[in-house]
Amino acid sequence: MVAPTRTEQKMVTGKINNLDVTVPAGTTILDAARMAGIEVPNLCYQPLMRAWGSCRICTVQILGKRGGLIESCATPLGEGMEVLTHSPEVMESRQFILQMYLIDHALDCPTCDKSGECYLQDNTYLHNVNANPYRRPKFNQSYVHFSELIDYKWDRCIMCNRCTRVCDEMIGVTAIESEFRSLEATIAPAYGEDLTETNCTHCGMCIAVCPVGALTDRHFGHHPWELDATETICGFCDVGCTLNVEANRGLVRRTTHLWERGVNHGYTCEFGRWGYEQVQHQDRLSYPVVRD
Ligand code: SF4
Ligand code: SF4
Ligand code: SF4
Ligand code: FES
Repeated sequence: MVAPTRTEQKMVTGKINNLDVTVPAGTTILDAARMAGIEVPNLCYQPLMRAWGSCRICTVQILGKRGGLIESCATPLGEGMEVLTHSPEVMESRQFILQMYLIDHALDCPTCDKSGECYLQDNTYLHNVNANPYRRPKFNQSYVHFSELIDYKWDRCIMCNRCTRVCDEMIGVTAIESEFRSLEATIAPAYGEDLTETNCTHCGMCIAVCPVGALTDRHFGHHPWELDATETICGFCDVGCTLNVEANRGLVRRTTHLWERGVNHGYTCEFGRWGYEQVQHQDRLSYPVVRD
C-alpha cells in the first residue's frame, strides 16, 4: 500500500531588522514581520483581503544591490532577503507620504469620530510629522449621507479602497465603488444609485475597515476613549461571531471588530454590527410578564 503523500510547503528564510524569519513562500514582508512581532505601519492593508499597494505607508527597505524602498504589503519575502522596517530612508519616505496625504486632508480631528483610533492620526504622530511644507487651502467638504446608517466625508478619505474591497471581496455585493481619478477621486454608491437602491446589506463593514474617519456610523457619536470594551459572542444566530461590545454609562454605544479573532475573523453581518440596538430597545422585555 502506498502511503498518502503530503505536499511539503516551501519555506523561505529572510532577515527582518536582523532577525531570522522563516515563513511559507509567498508570505508578504508585512505579514512575515507581523509573525515575527514587528509592526509595519499600514493604511490600505486589511487582513484576509488581497494586497492593494496604494498607500505606501508600509514602505520598507530591502538591502543589497537590487534593493531599495518597496511596499511590504505587496512584496513576498524572498530567500536570503534582508529587510529594514524603520531605517532612516524608510522613515523619511513615510514622512513624505504622510505630508502628501495631509495637504488636502480635512484635519478636523476634534469633531471626527475616528479621532483616537485613526491610522492617519497615529502614523502622523508616530512619524513625527509636525510640520508640512506642502500647503494649500482646504476644500471643506460636508458629510454625504449614503444611508440612514452611513456617512461619507470626502476630505477625510485617503482612497485606500478598503471599503470597496471589503464590500466586493468579503460581502460580495459591490454596493459602493471608487469613481474618477486624482483629485476628483471619490467613494460613492455603485452605478450612481442611492445606496438604498443597491444590494447593500447594511453590514457596516465598509465603516469598520475604513482606517480614517471618512466612512462613519451615523448612530455613533462618542469618543472611543470613553468606552469600555467587552469581547463577546453574537447571539443573533448560530454562527457565533466574536464581537467587541463597547459601552459607557450603562448603554452599548457600538460593536467593533477584532480582526483575525473568532470564527468570523472580525467580519460580521448587520446583526453583529447594529443588533445591539435591540438589546437595549425600550420595548424589549426585561422582566417576566403574565398574560391577562
Ligand atoms: S480622519 Fe483622522 S486625521 Fe483625519 S480628521 Fe479624522 S481623526 Fe483627524
Ligand atoms: S454596508 Fe456592507 S454591503 Fe453596504 S456598502 Fe458597506 S460594506 Fe457594502
Ligand atoms: S472611505 Fe475610508 S476605506 Fe474607503 S477609500 Fe476612503 S479612506 Fe479608504
Ligand atoms: S499598506 Fe502597503 S501600500 Fe498600503
